[in-house]
Parts: sequence; structure tokens; C-alpha cells
Amino acid sequence: MSVLEIDVDTKIAPCYRVHIDTNLLERIGPAVRQAAPAPVCGLVTDRHVARYYLRGVRQSLAQAGYRVAEFIFPPGERYKKLATVAQAYDALLAARLERTSPILALGGGVVGDLAGFVAATLLRGLPLIQIPTTLLAAVDASIGGKVGVDHTRGKNLIGAFHQPRAVFADVAVLASLPEVELQCGLAECVKHAVIRDQALFEFIADHLPAILRRDPPTLLELIARNVRIKAAVVTEDPFEQGVRALLNFGHTFGHALETVGGYGELRHGQAVALGMVAAARLAVSRRLFPAADAGRLQILLKRIGLPICQRRLDISAVLAAMQTDKKIHRGALRFILPVALGRAEIFADVTAAEIRAALATLDCAKAPRPSLRTRKNRAYR
Ligand SMILES: NC(=O)c1ccc[n+]([C@@H]2O[C@H](COP(=O)([O-])OP(=O)(O)OC[C@H]3O[C@@H](n4cnc5c(N)ncnc54)[C@H](O)[C@@H]3O)[C@@H](O)[C@H]2O)c1
Ligand SMILES: [Zn+2]
Repeated sequence: MSVLEIDVDTKIAPCYRVHIDTNLLERIGPAVRQAAPAPVCGLVTDRHVARYYLRGVRQSLAQAGYRVAEFIFPPGERYKKLATVAQAYDALLAARLERTSPILALGGGVVGDLAGFVAATLLRGLPLIQIPTTLLAAVDASIGGKVGVDHTRGKNLIGAFHQPRAVFADVAVLASLPEVELQCGLAECVKHAVIRDQALFEFIADHLPAILRRDPPTLLELIARNVRIKAAVVTEDPFEQGVRALLNFGHTFGHALETVGGYGELRHGQAVALGMVAAARLAVSRRLFPAADAGRLQILLKRIGLPICQRRLDISAVLAAMQTDKKIHRGALRFILPVALGRAEIFADVTAAEIRAALATLDCAKAPRPSLRTRKNRAYR
């Protein structure tokens, strides 16, 4: 298996490289030194990830000559908040971090977003090294420079753009990832496929058993295909003024579902899966997207183990949560709707009635059964 390297050149920041390989963590010290040499580095992670990987990473960094300042916080989205950022500032400043010190984000998207925000703001900005340990972080959150934390009024409402200096994605660490987290990462992979790459959709559908048993070469290819998509999109539009908005497919519904669930009930990827189902059905109702493709999407999400309907759905609460979405543009919510498998477009004219109708189909009690398993769809797998 060979190491894969993909360059991300946003033009607004120095070009950086995404390295994808197995057992990268064992060599992380010299790799970081090459990307961001300094006497001291700040290592940010959560307690789960620390239990598995902190000792090895710390040792490799020390051997590469770093003094390591650490900040470890409890796992979970509910700690992705300003109070945790403040604790990180305290710990890292007490450990005498310097202006050249890289901040290493070792963990999933929560660690990446929070540590990235710390890196963007501490001492007016420090180099950031993303070391994603979840599939979601490897294919999505670690690339593109969006960093930030949640507010009680909504997800990711406080943040910045801060591109990493380098990204090191180790396929081997996905072996310890809980199954539900693997499923959530796959939700973002399916998102990339639907908005941009039908061949990726087929790849996931064809290789799902190997992906779910975490076959390293298959995961390597899956991550590389996704990183290429994310890298291409953020290169084209680093500040989300155009095409990057397509990455929000499933997220306008998804974020609202997540907010209503209080950042606990639904994992991010699960909410995105539901959001993609709702957006696809909305697109079908507008005759933009073939019902058979919406069926294929739903079947693939189900095979992955992601939810495609929700019990006790409070539609009014979800609608209200959507009103605080920071993607509101001149008073209107913009929706990303698929127009083909592999292509999506931005729509600013979606009505409240359409949103309600799409949400209503997510209610498990009323959801269209996968009677979508027509003979035709079964042939699709
Ligand atoms: N910045 C972006 O562009 C961007 C894009 C997508 C998502 N996000 C953000 O990412 C977050 C979700 O990220 P996530 O799904 O990675 O969640 P997460 O960071 O909460 O990680 C999920 C769980 O897995 C554990 N874990 C991580 N790696 C592990 C490993 N290798 N082995 C065992 N356990 C491990 C974590 O401790 C945590 O409990 C959300 O906050 C979302 O907003 C950001
Ligand atoms: Zn997402």
C-alpha cells in the first residue's frame, strides 16, 4: 500500500498537503517537524482518543525534539464550546507556547474544529496540523480551514477560516473507531458522491462490506477519493461564496435536527443522513431529481446503518431551528438539492410549505416505507 498525498492550494493560504497512509501516527514526530518546526508544540485531543493514541504520539513528538504542551478535554459535541476553548488557552499559555508553535488537532471533527479555533486565535494565529482520527474528520472536517465552536443558539456559530499547515490521516486508527462513528463518516462520503461524483457513489455501494470491515486499502482509496473532492471544492471557493455551499447538502435540515436533539440525540452524520433524505425528497417533489435515485440514496444510507426516518419528530421546532442557520442569505434559506446522482445545485426559493412537507416524510410513523425497494432498486443494490 502506498502513501497518498493530495495538495490543497486555496491561494489564500500556503498550499498544504494531505498525507494518507497506514501507521502514520508512529512517524508523526518527524512528519510534524517537517511541516512546522518549533521547540514547542501544543497537542489537543479528547479523552477517548488520548486513551488509544496519546502515549505513542507524545513519544514520537518528543523523539523528534518537541516539548509537548497538552490539552485534553472530554469527548463529545457538547464540549465544542467557548468554555472549552478558554480552558485550552489557559493550559497552553501556562505551558509557554510560542508564536511558532504548531497546534496539533489529534481526534475527530470536534477536536479538529475546537483545536483549529484555538490555533486561529491564540497569539493571533498559530500553525495548525490536523491529525484526523475519525473517518468524518479525515474526509471532511480536517480539510478546508473551517474551524469553530457551537453556541446554544446553533451549531458552529462562532468560528474562523484557518487553513492547516498539513493534514496527516492514518487509516490504521480507524480500527478502534466505534461502528456508529464509521457510519457517520460514511454519511459525508455519500454527500460528496451525490453532489459531485457518481463514480464515488458506485464505489461506496460496491465496496461497502470491505469498508465496514475496515479493510485498509479500501479505506485508503475511499479517503483519497473524498479528499480529492473536498480539496477541489475548497480550492475553487475557500470562503464559501459559491460552489463550496454545495458541501452543505443535507446540512440545512441536518443542523436543525441536530440542534433540536440538543447535540446529543443524533450524531452529526446521522442528522446529515436524515437531511439528505429530506433534501432528496424535496428535489423529487420539484421533479428535479429522479425518484429512483432518491430511492438508491435511501437504500445506500440504510445499508450503511444510518437512519432514514426519525421518531417523534417535532417539525415546528426543526423549522424554528432552521431560522438561526448561519447560511441564511438575505432572509432566505438556501437549500442544496440534487439534480442527478453526482450533481447538485443551490436553491433560494424553497418555501416553508415545502420544508414542512419534506420534514413530514422523515417521521418514522409516516415515512414512505422502503417500498422503494422496487425490483428496479434491488437490482441497483
Ligand atoms: N470544519 C469542517 O469543515 C467540518 C466538516 C464536517 C464536520 N465538522 C464537525 O465535526 C464534528 C463531528 O466530528 P466527528 O464525527 O469526527 O466527531 P467526534 O470528534 O466527536 O468523534 C466521535 C467520537 O469518536 C471518538 N474517536 C475519535 N477517533 C477515534 C478513534 N480512532 N478510535 C476510537 N474513538 C475515536 C471521539 O472521542 C468521539 O467520542 C462536528 O462538530 C461537525 O460540526 C466540521
Ligand atoms: Zn457535515
